[in-house]
Amino acid sequence: MTVDLRTRYLGLELQHPIVASASPLTASVESLARLQAAGVAAVVLPSLFEEEIEHEEMATHNLLLAGAELSPEAHGFFPEMQSYRTGPDEYLKLIAQAKKALSVPVIASLNGHTPGGWTTIARQFQDAGADAIELNVYFLAASVDDTSAEVEQRYIDLVLSVTRQVSIPVAVKVAPYFSAMANMAARLTAAGASGLVLFNRFLQPDIGLEELEVSPHLVLSTSDELRLALRWIAILRGRVDACLAATGGAHTPDDVLKLLLAGADCVMLASCLLNHGPNHVGTLVRGVEAWMADREYASVAQMKGSLSQQSCPEPDAFERANYMKALKSYTSGFA
Ligand SMILES: Cc1cc2nc3c(=O)[nH]c(=O)nc-3n(C[C@H](O)[C@H](O)[C@H](O)COP(=O)(O)O)c2cc1C
Repeated sequence: MTVDLRTRYLGLELQHPIVASASPLTASVESLARLQAAGVAAVVLPSLFEEEIEHEEMATHNLLLAGAELSPEAHGFFPEMQSYRTGPDEYLKLIAQAKKALSVPVIASLNGHTPGGWTTIARQFQDAGADAIELNVYFLAASVDDTSAEVEQRYIDLVLSVTRQVSIPVAVKVAPYFSAMANMAARLTAAGASGLVLFNRFLQPDIGLEELEVSPHLVLSTSDELRLALRWIAILRGRVDACLAATGGAHTPDDVLKLLLAGADCVMLASCLLNHGPNHVGTLVRGVEAWMADREYASVAQMKGSLSQQSCPEPDAFERANYMKALKSYTSGFA
Protein backbone atom coordinates (compact mmCIF):
# COMPACT_ATOMS: atom_id res chain seq x y z
CA MET A 1 0.00 0.00 0.00
CA THR A 2 1.39 3.42 -0.87
CA VAL A 3 0.93 6.12 1.71
CA ASP A 4 0.64 9.78 0.74
CA LEU A 5 2.84 11.55 3.25
CA ARG A 6 2.34 15.05 1.88
CA THR A 7 1.22 17.82 4.18
CA ARG A 8 0.66 21.56 3.93
CA TYR A 9 2.35 23.98 6.27
CA LEU A 10 2.14 27.79 5.93
CA GLY A 11 0.66 27.32 2.47
CA LEU A 12 3.71 25.31 1.40
CA GLU A 13 3.36 21.80 0.13
CA LEU A 14 5.77 19.49 1.97
CA GLN A 15 6.61 16.00 0.73
CA HIS A 16 6.18 14.70 4.29
CA PRO A 17 5.84 16.29 7.73
CA ILE A 18 9.46 16.19 8.91
CA VAL A 19 11.18 19.57 9.00
CA ALA A 20 14.64 20.57 10.24
CA SER A 21 14.11 23.04 13.08
CA ALA A 22 16.43 26.01 13.68
CA SER A 23 19.75 24.67 14.96
CA PRO A 24 23.44 24.77 14.07
CA LEU A 25 22.63 22.13 11.43
CA THR A 26 20.70 24.68 9.39
CA ALA A 27 23.35 27.39 9.67
CA SER A 28 25.37 26.81 6.49
CA VAL A 29 24.52 26.00 2.91
CA GLU A 30 26.65 22.83 3.03
CA SER A 31 24.82 21.56 6.08
CA LEU A 32 21.44 22.53 4.62
CA ALA A 33 22.30 20.61 1.44
CA ARG A 34 23.12 17.55 3.57
CA LEU A 35 19.76 17.85 5.30
CA GLN A 36 17.97 18.07 1.97
CA ALA A 37 19.92 15.07 0.63
CA ALA A 38 18.91 13.17 3.77
CA GLY A 39 15.28 13.92 2.93
CA VAL A 40 13.96 16.75 5.14
CA ALA A 41 10.81 18.31 3.76
CA ALA A 42 11.73 21.91 4.71
CA VAL A 43 14.32 23.78 6.73
CA VAL A 44 14.17 26.54 9.32
CA LEU A 45 17.32 28.65 9.45
CA PRO A 46 18.78 29.59 12.85
CA SER A 47 17.40 32.86 14.18
CA LEU A 48 18.66 36.30 13.50
CA PHE A 49 18.33 38.04 16.86
CA GLU A 50 16.81 41.45 17.53
CA GLU A 51 20.00 42.35 19.41
CA GLU A 52 22.15 41.54 16.36
CA ILE A 53 20.03 43.82 14.20
CA GLU A 54 20.05 46.62 16.74
CA HIS A 55 23.79 46.29 17.16
CA GLU A 56 24.25 46.83 13.42
CA GLU A 57 21.86 49.75 13.42
CA MET A 58 23.76 51.44 16.24
CA ALA A 59 27.08 50.87 14.48
CA THR A 60 25.72 52.54 11.35
CA HIS A 61 24.20 55.35 13.38
CA ASN A 62 27.51 56.04 15.15
CA LEU A 63 29.34 56.02 11.85
CA LEU A 64 26.94 58.57 10.42
CA LEU A 65 27.21 60.79 13.49
CA ALA A 66 31.00 60.64 13.38
CA GLY A 67 30.92 61.70 9.72
CA ALA A 68 28.51 64.51 10.47
CA GLU A 69 30.72 65.80 13.29
CA LEU A 70 33.70 66.07 11.00
CA SER A 71 31.79 68.37 8.68
CA PRO A 72 28.59 69.91 10.09
CA GLU A 73 27.43 71.03 6.63
CA ALA A 74 27.62 67.43 5.53
CA HIS A 75 24.86 66.45 7.96
CA GLY A 76 22.19 66.98 5.34
CA PHE A 77 23.90 64.57 3.00
CA PHE A 78 23.60 61.68 5.36
CA PRO A 79 20.54 59.63 4.66
CA GLU A 80 18.02 59.08 7.42
CA MET A 81 18.52 55.98 9.51
CA GLN A 82 15.24 54.52 8.31
CA SER A 83 16.30 54.45 4.69
CA TYR A 84 19.90 53.54 5.29
CA ARG A 85 20.62 50.19 6.77
CA THR A 86 23.41 47.78 6.30
CA GLY A 87 21.38 45.00 7.89
CA PRO A 88 22.78 41.67 8.98
CA ASP A 89 24.18 40.94 5.56
CA GLU A 90 25.45 37.49 6.36
CA TYR A 91 21.99 36.30 7.28
CA LEU A 92 20.40 37.69 4.15
CA LYS A 93 23.15 36.04 2.13
CA LEU A 94 22.39 32.72 3.83
CA ILE A 95 18.73 33.00 2.86
CA ALA A 96 19.58 33.78 -0.75
CA GLN A 97 22.19 31.02 -0.98
CA ALA A 98 19.90 28.49 0.68
CA LYS A 99 17.12 29.34 -1.76
CA LYS A 100 19.50 28.89 -4.66
CA ALA A 101 20.90 25.58 -3.43
CA LEU A 102 17.74 23.88 -2.13
CA SER A 103 14.48 22.81 -3.67
CA VAL A 104 12.72 22.35 -0.30
CA PRO A 105 11.10 25.42 1.32
CA VAL A 106 13.39 27.69 3.32
CA ILE A 107 11.94 29.33 6.42
CA ALA A 108 13.96 32.22 7.85
CA SER A 109 13.81 32.86 11.58
CA LEU A 110 13.67 36.09 13.52
CA ASN A 111 14.12 36.08 17.27
CA GLY A 112 13.04 39.05 19.32
CA HIS A 113 10.99 40.35 22.20
CA THR A 114 10.02 43.98 21.52
CA PRO A 115 7.91 45.50 18.78
CA GLY A 116 9.95 48.12 16.96
CA GLY A 117 12.00 49.30 14.03
CA TRP A 118 14.17 46.18 13.94
CA THR A 119 11.21 44.19 12.60
CA THR A 120 11.53 45.89 9.19
CA ILE A 121 14.22 43.28 8.52
CA ALA A 122 11.33 40.87 7.87
CA ARG A 123 10.81 42.61 4.53
CA GLN A 124 14.43 41.94 3.63
CA PHE A 125 13.96 38.26 4.51
CA GLN A 126 11.14 38.20 2.00
CA ASP A 127 13.17 40.04 -0.63
CA ALA A 128 16.07 37.61 -0.11
CA GLY A 129 13.70 34.81 -1.11
CA ALA A 130 12.51 33.24 2.17
CA ASP A 131 9.40 31.13 1.65
CA ALA A 132 8.12 32.01 5.11
CA ILE A 133 9.26 33.53 8.39
CA GLU A 134 9.31 31.96 11.81
CA LEU A 135 9.13 34.62 14.52
CA ASN A 136 10.53 33.29 17.75
CA VAL A 137 9.26 35.43 20.61
CA TYR A 138 11.75 34.65 23.32
CA PHE A 139 10.65 36.70 26.28
CA LEU A 140 10.68 35.85 29.94
CA ALA A 141 8.27 38.01 31.93
CA ALA A 142 10.61 38.47 34.88
CA SER A 143 9.53 41.95 35.99
CA VAL A 144 7.16 42.11 38.95
CA ASP A 145 5.65 45.24 37.39
CA ASP A 146 4.54 43.65 34.12
CA THR A 147 0.98 42.33 34.12
CA SER A 148 -0.03 39.37 32.00
CA ALA A 149 -2.26 41.66 29.92
CA GLU A 150 0.73 43.89 29.13
CA VAL A 151 2.96 40.94 28.32
CA GLU A 152 0.35 39.43 26.02
CA GLN A 153 -0.21 42.74 24.25
CA ARG A 154 3.52 42.98 23.65
CA TYR A 155 3.41 39.63 21.84
CA ILE A 156 0.50 40.79 19.73
CA ASP A 157 2.17 44.10 18.85
CA LEU A 158 5.34 42.28 17.88
CA VAL A 159 3.48 39.83 15.66
CA LEU A 160 1.55 42.70 14.05
CA SER A 161 4.72 44.65 13.42
CA VAL A 162 6.28 41.68 11.61
CA THR A 163 3.22 40.48 9.70
CA ARG A 164 2.56 44.02 8.39
CA GLN A 165 5.96 44.07 6.69
CA VAL A 166 5.53 40.99 4.53
CA SER A 167 3.21 39.08 2.25
CA ILE A 168 4.87 35.69 2.92
CA PRO A 169 3.41 33.62 5.78
CA VAL A 170 4.66 34.18 9.32
CA ALA A 171 4.63 31.46 11.96
CA VAL A 172 5.07 32.38 15.61
CA LYS A 173 7.14 30.24 17.94
CA VAL A 174 6.10 30.78 21.55
CA ALA A 175 6.65 29.30 24.96
CA PRO A 176 3.74 27.61 26.72
CA TYR A 177 3.75 29.89 29.77
CA PHE A 178 0.50 31.79 29.28
CA SER A 179 -2.39 31.69 31.74
CA ALA A 180 -4.75 31.31 28.80
CA MET A 181 -2.77 29.50 26.12
CA ALA A 182 -5.74 28.75 23.87
CA ASN A 183 -6.95 32.34 23.87
CA MET A 184 -3.41 33.55 23.22
CA ALA A 185 -3.11 31.19 20.28
CA ALA A 186 -6.32 32.63 18.83
CA ARG A 187 -5.09 36.20 19.35
CA LEU A 188 -1.72 35.47 17.72
CA THR A 189 -3.60 34.07 14.76
CA ALA A 190 -5.87 37.13 14.60
CA ALA A 191 -2.71 39.29 14.59
CA GLY A 192 -1.67 37.62 11.36
CA ALA A 193 0.21 34.47 12.36
CA SER A 194 -0.39 31.81 9.72
CA GLY A 195 1.20 29.18 11.92
CA LEU A 196 2.08 28.45 15.53
CA VAL A 197 5.25 26.60 16.42
CA LEU A 198 4.69 24.88 19.75
CA PHE A 199 6.79 25.30 21.83
CA ASN A 200 9.83 27.40 22.41
CA ARG A 201 12.18 25.80 24.86
CA PHE A 202 13.74 28.34 27.23
CA LEU A 203 17.27 27.80 28.38
CA GLN A 204 17.14 26.87 32.02
CA PRO A 205 20.13 28.20 33.90
CA ASP A 206 21.79 25.92 36.39
CA ILE A 207 23.97 26.56 39.43
CA GLY A 208 27.42 24.99 39.51
CA LEU A 209 28.05 23.98 43.11
CA GLU A 210 31.83 23.76 42.61
CA GLU A 211 32.27 27.17 40.98
CA LEU A 212 29.26 28.76 42.73
CA GLU A 213 28.26 30.23 39.42
CA VAL A 214 25.07 30.44 37.42
CA SER A 215 25.58 28.96 34.01
CA PRO A 216 23.31 28.80 30.99
CA HIS A 217 22.35 25.23 30.48
CA LEU A 218 21.62 23.92 27.03
CA VAL A 219 20.60 20.30 27.07
CA LEU A 220 19.17 18.43 24.14
CA SER A 221 15.63 17.14 24.50
CA THR A 222 14.37 13.59 24.97
CA SER A 223 11.05 12.07 23.92
CA ASP A 224 9.75 12.80 27.44
CA GLU A 225 9.29 16.44 26.43
CA LEU A 226 6.96 15.56 23.61
CA ARG A 227 3.77 15.56 25.62
CA LEU A 228 3.68 19.31 26.20
CA ALA A 229 3.30 20.04 22.48
CA LEU A 230 1.15 16.94 22.07
CA ARG A 231 -1.49 18.21 24.48
CA TRP A 232 -1.67 21.74 23.10
CA ILE A 233 -1.67 20.70 19.48
CA ALA A 234 -4.52 18.33 20.24
CA ILE A 235 -6.44 21.10 22.02
CA LEU A 236 -5.82 23.76 19.37
CA ARG A 237 -6.41 21.61 16.26
CA GLY A 238 -9.61 22.86 14.67
CA ARG A 239 -9.95 25.72 17.15
CA VAL A 240 -7.52 28.24 15.66
CA ASP A 241 -7.16 29.21 12.07
CA ALA A 242 -3.43 28.54 11.91
CA CYS A 243 -1.13 25.71 10.92
CA LEU A 244 0.41 23.89 13.85
CA ALA A 245 4.05 22.81 13.96
CA ALA A 246 5.36 20.69 16.79
CA THR A 247 8.81 21.28 18.21
CA GLY A 248 10.33 19.74 21.29
CA GLY A 249 11.00 16.10 21.98
CA ALA A 250 10.37 14.36 18.65
CA HIS A 251 13.00 11.65 18.25
CA THR A 252 11.34 8.49 16.96
CA PRO A 253 8.76 7.51 14.32
CA ASP A 254 6.30 6.94 17.19
CA ASP A 255 6.84 10.51 18.40
CA VAL A 256 6.10 11.87 14.93
CA LEU A 257 3.00 9.68 14.57
CA LYS A 258 1.60 10.82 17.93
CA LEU A 259 2.01 14.48 17.01
CA LEU A 260 0.31 13.93 13.65
CA LEU A 261 -2.58 12.10 15.32
CA ALA A 262 -2.89 15.02 17.74
CA GLY A 263 -3.11 17.39 14.77
CA ALA A 264 0.35 18.70 13.90
CA ASP A 265 0.81 19.79 10.29
CA CYS A 266 4.52 19.17 10.57
CA VAL A 267 7.06 18.01 13.12
CA MET A 268 10.30 19.88 13.60
CA LEU A 269 13.53 18.28 14.71
CA ALA A 270 16.67 19.71 16.27
CA SER A 271 18.01 17.54 19.12
CA CYS A 272 17.33 14.30 17.29
CA LEU A 273 19.30 15.44 14.24
CA LEU A 274 22.09 16.83 16.41
CA ASN A 275 22.30 13.44 18.16
CA HIS A 276 22.04 11.13 15.16
CA GLY A 277 22.92 13.26 12.14
CA PRO A 278 20.78 14.22 9.12
CA ASN A 279 20.38 10.64 7.85
CA HIS A 280 18.09 9.89 10.76
CA VAL A 281 15.37 11.68 8.78
CA GLY A 282 15.15 8.63 6.49
CA THR A 283 14.64 6.32 9.47
CA LEU A 284 11.80 8.50 10.74
CA VAL A 285 10.07 8.86 7.37
CA ARG A 286 10.26 5.11 6.70
CA GLY A 287 9.05 4.33 10.22
CA VAL A 288 6.05 6.65 9.89
CA GLU A 289 5.21 5.26 6.46
CA ALA A 290 5.44 1.64 7.61
CA TRP A 291 3.17 2.22 10.61
CA MET A 292 0.60 4.04 8.51
CA ALA A 293 0.61 1.34 5.84
CA ASP A 294 0.20 -1.30 8.54
CA ARG A 295 -2.82 0.56 9.95
CA GLU A 296 -4.18 1.20 6.47
CA TYR A 297 -3.98 4.97 6.59
CA ALA A 298 -3.90 6.21 3.00
CA SER A 299 -2.50 9.64 3.77
CA VAL A 300 -1.19 12.02 6.40
CA ALA A 301 -4.16 14.24 5.57
CA GLN A 302 -6.52 11.43 6.59
CA MET A 303 -4.68 10.68 9.82
CA LYS A 304 -3.87 14.23 10.91
CA GLY A 305 -5.82 15.32 13.96
CA SER A 306 -7.81 12.10 14.27
CA LEU A 307 -6.96 12.08 17.98
CA SER A 308 -7.23 15.83 18.51
CA GLN A 309 -9.44 16.90 21.39
CA GLN A 310 -12.32 17.63 19.03
CA SER A 311 -12.10 14.22 17.35
CA CYS A 312 -11.01 11.80 20.05
CA PRO A 313 -13.51 9.68 21.96
CA GLU A 314 -12.20 10.93 25.33
CA PRO A 315 -11.76 14.73 25.11
CA ASP A 316 -11.33 14.95 28.90
CA ALA A 317 -8.03 13.15 28.52
CA PHE A 318 -6.45 16.47 27.59
CA GLU A 319 -7.82 18.37 30.58
CA ARG A 320 -8.27 18.34 34.35
CA ALA A 321 -10.43 15.26 34.62
CA ASN A 322 -7.58 13.14 33.41
CA TYR A 323 -5.36 14.43 36.21
CA MET A 324 -7.79 13.19 38.86
CA LYS A 325 -8.09 9.82 37.20
CA ALA A 326 -4.34 9.47 36.85
CA LEU A 327 -3.68 10.34 40.50
CA LYS A 328 -6.36 8.03 41.79
CA SER A 329 -5.25 5.10 39.71
CA TYR A 330 -1.56 5.44 40.59
CA THR A 331 -0.20 2.51 42.49
CA SER A 332 3.22 2.35 44.04
CA GLY A 333 5.07 -0.67 45.33
CA PHE A 334 5.72 1.29 48.56
CA ALA A 335 2.19 2.52 49.27
C1 LIG B 1 22.01 24.17 19.67
C2 LIG B 1 20.61 24.67 19.39
C3 LIG B 1 20.42 25.88 18.72
C4 LIG B 1 19.14 26.36 18.49
N1 LIG B 1 18.96 27.55 17.82
C5 LIG B 1 17.71 28.04 17.63
C6 LIG B 1 17.50 29.26 16.95
O1 LIG B 1 18.43 29.92 16.48
N2 LIG B 1 16.21 29.70 16.81
C7 LIG B 1 15.14 29.00 17.28
O2 LIG B 1 13.99 29.42 17.12
N3 LIG B 1 15.33 27.82 17.92
C8 LIG B 1 16.57 27.33 18.10
N4 LIG B 1 16.74 26.15 18.75
C9 LIG B 1 15.54 25.43 19.23
C10 LIG B 1 15.16 24.31 18.27
O3 LIG B 1 14.83 24.81 17.00
C11 LIG B 1 13.98 23.49 18.82
O4 LIG B 1 12.82 24.29 18.83
C12 LIG B 1 14.22 22.96 20.22
O5 LIG B 1 15.52 22.45 20.35
C13 LIG B 1 13.22 21.86 20.57
O6 LIG B 1 13.22 20.85 19.61
P1 LIG B 1 14.03 19.45 19.77
O7 LIG B 1 13.44 18.72 20.90
O8 LIG B 1 13.84 18.77 18.45
O9 LIG B 1 15.47 19.81 20.03
C14 LIG B 1 18.01 25.63 18.95
C15 LIG B 1 18.22 24.42 19.61
C16 LIG B 1 19.49 23.92 19.82
C17 LIG B 1 19.64 22.62 20.53
